[in-house]
Amino acid sequence: MKSTKLIYLEDSYQTNIEATVVNITKIGKKYSVILDQTIFYPQSGGQPADTGVIEGETGKFIVDHVKLDDGLIIHQGTLEGTVEPQQKVTATIDWNARYKNMQTHTAGHLIDEAVKNLSPEFQGIDGMHGINNQQYIEFNGFINESYKSEITDYLQKNKNLDQPIISETVTLAEIKKRGILLPFEPSKNKPVRVVSFGDNPPVPDAGTQLKNSNEVWPILLTDFEYQDGNTRIHYTLTPPAKKELPETKEATTKDTSLAEFQQQIDALANEIKQDEVLSNEAFQQKYSSKKGKFNQLAKSIKSVSPKDRGTAGKLLNQLKLTINSQANKQADTKKQEWFDVTLPGIKPQLGHAHLISQTIKEVESIFASLGFVRRRYQEIETDWYYAEGLNIPKDHPARDDQETFYFSDNVVLTAHTSNGQLREMEFLKEPPIKMINIGKTYRRQASNTHSPMFHQFEGLLVDKNINMSHLVGVSNYFAQHYFGPDREIRLRPHHFQFTEPSFEVDINCNVCKGTGSIHGHKCKVCKSGWLELGGAGMVHPTVLKNGGIDPNKYSGFAFGWGIERIIMMKHQVTDNLRQLYTDDLRFLQQG
Ligand code: PHE
Repeated sequence: MKSTKLIYLEDSYQTNIEATVVNITKIGKKYSVILDQTIFYPQSGGQPADTGVIEGETGKFIVDHVKLDDGLIIHQGTLEGTVEPQQKVTATIDWNARYKNMQTHTAGHLIDEAVKNLSPEFQGIDGMHGINNQQYIEFNGFINESYKSEITDYLQKNKNLDQPIISETVTLAEIKKRGILLPFEPSKNKPVRVVSFGDNPPVPDAGTQLKNSNEVWPILLTDFEYQDGNTRIHYTLTPPAKKELPETKEATTKDTSLAEFQQQIDALANEIKQDEVLSNEAFQQKYSSKKGKFNQLAKSIKSVSPKDRGTAGKLLNQLKLTINSQANKQADTKKQEWFDVTLPGIKPQLGHAHLISQTIKEVESIFASLGFVRRRYQEIETDWYYAEGLNIPKDHPARDDQETFYFSDNVVLTAHTSNGQLREMEFLKEPPIKMINIGKTYRRQASNTHSPMFHQFEGLLVDKNINMSHLVGVSNYFAQHYFGPDREIRLRPHHFQFTEPSFEVDINCNVCKGTGSIHGHKCKVCKSGWLELGGAGMVHPTVLKNGGIDPNKYSGFAFGWGIERIIMMKHQVTDNLRQLYTDDLRFLQQG
């Protein structure tokens, strides 16, 4: 049979059409009608099927379900009178229901556009637009509920913008010419139906769409549901107020005898057995849903006299079993349901390196561009490399500065990366030494800004004629490459046992531009115009000697700065270092 011509793809607003009957078949009490062309939308892509009537001179066919099967639109329903092949008929859809479905469908797409606008990383991967009263768009990844207002604002703005929504069918040539990006490879001989919202790029779509964003009823995002790493954004629409429908009168109740009740049960059981043409969903809807026929009958048990209710209950249970077994049979024999192959595919989630790892790499490459070689020395260290050899004698008060974890008198968990200085001198034996030692360090501390484990990067440059201007130059180079071209450093005198002279290196604050105040108020980020990067200085001759290097021939500088510290400085975070170590995806996914 020739494929049905899908007029609803060309014009979603057409409510009736003249057509010719191609085929009509009967299974049980139900009929299936195929027309040469139709405006009836088949259930697919999350949008429910249209309902309506197909009328000819000799009969009337009430359409209660529509499906697409191998290019053919199958209208299912009941027949009054006769309808024959070749006959001319008028097909009319229930416009109110269709318009509501279009509203829901277009609204879903607009939410998709809004979320993509928030971050192009999110992909709409599934959607329900009214089937089983479900309305949601599912996105890959985690979308924090706090974005609700941002998405809502976007939707609101879009509606007010009066954006045209253009549905069109494009050929491969056009796709190429217009540079349309599709999430699948378009085929040569099958044009693709796409829809574009305002200026946004077209997306594939095979449903019915409104013509303008200002037509969409107000969208309310109701709830964010998270499962399997995805986020479902549920929504509802607020249709314009219409006249209240007159209340239907409750039918007057009269007692039902057990025999009558049994008759009703039998009748329903028969109907269920013959009802084979229904899709699984329609079957559930008709019999097992809240408003389904089983529930209606179950409710009427109240009208059976109390003495017979037990027996009536048993009959109901049997009927339930019949429904279940029939539903299972249907599920077994049910043909593969039509699905929209033009829907975007599921994009696998991609991970990325943690912010700390990213920063280590960045620091490594900034120093590599100056010829520094990346090293990583041990975290469990003897007292010599960690302190004694760095000119900190056993009883020296400088030992109190660092809250060190000791394994024994002689073995520590390193509280700084300066042990790498002696290790590198021993390793290379002869300058030039240009080392950037990045590693973990440990201190007995825990607060919002201090963690017991953190990372340091230790620079060491030893060569002939190295002086302080080299330290200033390298520090500035780092500040400008990591923090930004307009940043600069200053040196503040300080004391370390292993350097002489020693300094704290500060970087000017970019919030207050180094002034320490904004509009007459103290700058909240730096308080003084400068942010402390960490310690540095000219390597002490004793340390060079301890490393086996002649201090009369060579000189050098060293610095030791914190990875977490520079991350916090760069992002102007002042009080939540701990986030760097949690598994909160909302934080981690920002990287
Ligand atoms: N080791 C010092 C600290 O952890 C930093 C430092 C390294 C100072 C190198 C001078 C030279 O605070």
